[in-house]
Parts: sequence; structure tokens; C-alpha cells
Amino acid sequence: MLSMPELIKEIERCRKCRLHQNRTNTVPGEGDPQAKLMFIGEAPGADEDRLGRPFVGKAGQLLDRALNALDFYRDMNFYICNICKCRPENNRTPMEDEAEACLPYLRNQVAVVKPRIIVCLGATATKYVIDREARITQIRGQWFEKKGYHILATFHPAALLRDESKKRIFWQDLQNVKKKYDALIGIPK
Ligand code: URA
Repeated sequence: MLSMPELIKEIERCRKCRLHQNRTNTVPGEGDPQAKLMFIGEAPGADEDRLGRPFVGKAGQLLDRALNALDFYRDMNFYICNICKCRPENNRTPMEDEAEACLPYLRNQVAVVKPRIIVCLGATATKYVIDREARITQIRGQWFEKKGYHILATFHPAALLRDESKKRIFWQDLQNVKKKYDALIGIPK
């Protein structure tokens, strides 16, 4: 297992799949490296690729606003990253071989951070973290326990930008995460 700084260097050098060819920056992840709460998305978009930081575009800003309202902050009490650390062209869904090539990095991140709670944002994270056959529409909002991690899937914040009607359920899911956090860990520091 690599430390977080070692892992970030390894990701920067990575050429394990075709996504390295078009990247401007790798997007390893960011936040509290000892967070008890981790969010996992799909892959960087254009803004993330340009800045090398996860969830900094419109969807990410929406997510941050919602989380800040629950007293969760990247620099204080959560960590956020993606299944794939490089941007797929035109924001297409990562292919299976791309996700498989990148998953060891995510596993290493989870092993370093050791979160108690993992939130999968959208279908891709749900597929690779919870179950290959899982359908987000069927399992969102439910808690799963896997290897001691409490895992919940909810909509990807980009889906809320396309369909406002999902916002209410997304907010309920995040409030549910907050309740679980308070019960397991205590009031956010
Ligand atoms: N969408 C994602 O899944 N991840 C990001 O970092 C940005 C947008």
C-alpha cells in the first residue's frame, strides 16, 4: 500500500489505459486524508481535467453547497475522488477496462483514508463499488455494509442539473448520510 503522496505521484505517471493520452492533469482526489466520510464519483470532467481537482465544475459546486449546509467540508471532514483519475473524452462513461485499470488506486485511497462511510455518486461508482449488477434507481438510499464500510448510493450531482426533480431525493439521501455520520462518529469536527 502506498502513502497518499506516493499514490498521487504514481497516478501522475500512470499510462495503464488510453485515458492518459488526452489528459491535461490527473485528478487523484482531495480532502481530509483521515476523513470518516468519502464520496466517489465517476471521472473528471473538463474543469477537473484543467485544474487537477475533483468536482470543481457546476455539479461539484452544487454538491459542495449541499454538503456545507450539513457541516461537511472538503478540507475538514470528507475526502472526494473518482473511479477514474483521468477524463474520458467528451465526458463519456468510462469503459470497463479503464475503470478496472484505475480501481487499484481507489482501493489504495480507501485503505489509506479508512472512511467509515462511503457515498457512491451515480451509476458508475455504484457499479464498481457496490455491485456490478446494481442499478442506481433500485438501490439508491439503501445502506450496504461491505468489509466494515457503510456504503450508500445516491444520484450523481450532474443528474440534478439535468433533472431538478431529483434534488429532493438527493437532499434526503445526504441528510441520511449526516444522520449515519452523527451516529457512528459524532457531530462533525
Ligand atoms: N463528475 C464526476 O464524476 N467527477 C468529477 O470530478 C467531476 C464531475
